[in-house]
Amino acid sequence: MLTRREMIRRGFFAPAILAAAKGVAAQDVSDIVLNPSPAIVPFTRRLKIPRPHLPLNRPGATPLEQAKAQSIFEQSNAEGRFRHAPVGPDGNCDYYEVIMKPGLQEIIPGTLTPIWGYSGTFPGPTFIAERDRTSVVRFVNRLTEITSIHYHGGHTPPDSDGVPMMSFGPQSIISATAPYPGARTNVYPNDNPFPATLWYHDHGEDCTAENVYKGLAGFFILNPNQSEADATIRAIEAKLPSGYGRYDIPMVFQDRQFNADGSFAYNNFEHDGFLGDRFLVNGVIQPFLPVARRKYRFRWLNGSNARQYQFFLSSGDKFFVIGSDGGLLPQATEMASLLMAPSERYEVVIDFSRYPVGSRVYLLNCLQQTSGRGPEDVDMDACTPLVEFRIARDEEDPSTIPDDLQPDIARFISDHLTERPGLQVQNTDIKLERGNGAWQINGRFYDPNRVDVTEKLWTHSTWTLINESGGWSHPLHIHDEEFTVIERNGRPPKPHEAGLKDVFNIGPHDTVRVAAYWTGGKNVGRYVFHCHNLEHEDMRMMGIFEVVP
Ligand code: C2O
Ligand code: CU
Repeated sequence: MLTRREMIRRGFFAPAILAAAKGVAAQDVSDIVLNPSPAIVPFTRRLKIPRPHLPLNRPGATPLEQAKAQSIFEQSNAEGRFRHAPVGPDGNCDYYEVIMKPGLQEIIPGTLTPIWGYSGTFPGPTFIAERDRTSVVRFVNRLTEITSIHYHGGHTPPDSDGVPMMSFGPQSIISATAPYPGARTNVYPNDNPFPATLWYHDHGEDCTAENVYKGLAGFFILNPNQSEADATIRAIEAKLPSGYGRYDIPMVFQDRQFNADGSFAYNNFEHDGFLGDRFLVNGVIQPFLPVARRKYRFRWLNGSNARQYQFFLSSGDKFFVIGSDGGLLPQATEMASLLMAPSERYEVVIDFSRYPVGSRVYLLNCLQQTSGRGPEDVDMDACTPLVEFRIARDEEDPSTIPDDLQPDIARFISDHLTERPGLQVQNTDIKLERGNGAWQINGRFYDPNRVDVTEKLWTHSTWTLINESGGWSHPLHIHDEEFTVIERNGRPPKPHEAGLKDVFNIGPHDTVRVAAYWTGGKNVGRYVFHCHNLEHEDMRMMGIFEVVP
């Protein structure tokens, strides 16, 4: 089958010939019938924790690893990729090499699913970095498609941000100093204002949806550093349940469809948004997780192409929401259910001490969705259990959830992201609409050569995100900064949406106003903003904004 990228290239999709293209697409769509995935027995496999990436220059690294770190330093330095004084492998900097390559994973028991993965695994290994400590990553494309690697939520200069305009193939020679074709190095200063649960994923031009679907996504966790500036947050983080993979557990939710042989099924003619009929958490269908009778911190990421989730606990109990896309919330908030659109992150704390040893509690998705247009309603009689928590043992629980979870973030929002009299603010209206058979922003399709919005460094702006359409949901993501919601449909945001965010779920007839403050002398140049329903994104719902000094 044609890839979406080939279709777009061959002009099956181009504004000028859309009438014809629609005819072709419509016919092909009706030809494609995907069979339901093979049946599986849920809760037979344990939740997998993606392993951390190891820096090549860590203490105890082999001479070969150290030599590689040195070569990555030389390549990125020669390419001028450092936006501050270059730091070699001996300095305050971590070096990595990540080969993007095909792999095989047993997802449906008894079959092997071909995947594309960072380091060959799905999901990719987790980057764990300290704020303000630079990560330098050489990504090597050993796939059969172009790619760009976006560090989602990272405050990254445009030439390392992984925008689609910088996609490269396995044969691309990125620079004279690249050691082999298809090797591109990104430099991440990790200077977000706050620690946060971020992620990295494919952003190949016109092929993001299929590349991510095949497995190109992983976590990027930004922790506090040892400096005075991070002292408050360090103390707070220490009170929360902690220990990666132990009491602090990442969970990425993705839906997939499988063929009878265990391979992923995908339909390139489904431009509304592709949905799967199996629910994976960290690459495992409906896993179980043994837990102790204590509190756990979960970092939830909706890594699905087009599916939204509304989470509940089967016990009917509430859980604490403590963080959103850009860091901890100013205040924790207790909720009985939580809606998550593609690419949103929320951090929650669940207290399992309420349940006796031997009992089971399920994480449920009760949101019904049958098309990529967006979700329908919550139906409590038709929930899908995604994770089975098995209450396995008693344990001391030294962790607590502080009342004022993140006073620094509260202050940051009131200092920089709150409108006040006399503050100069530029407003931009962003209208999300259906037009000419695909998705448009302010009446236009994505054009890699056109700047749609210009922003000035060290100034404030608001973006008003408007969805006038009847049926479509558009989770809009803006690169570069973390933002805050000023109002949603004329009202102040609910507590869980009142922290720092980079994705805004814009449902039918929603208008959401968000505030930005453009920071970072190195963060000038061209970034993108787009719908994070990945099929909408590929089908042109993307724009470019340029930050100018
Ligand atoms: Cu997570 Cu531009 O995307
Ligand atoms: Cu959309």
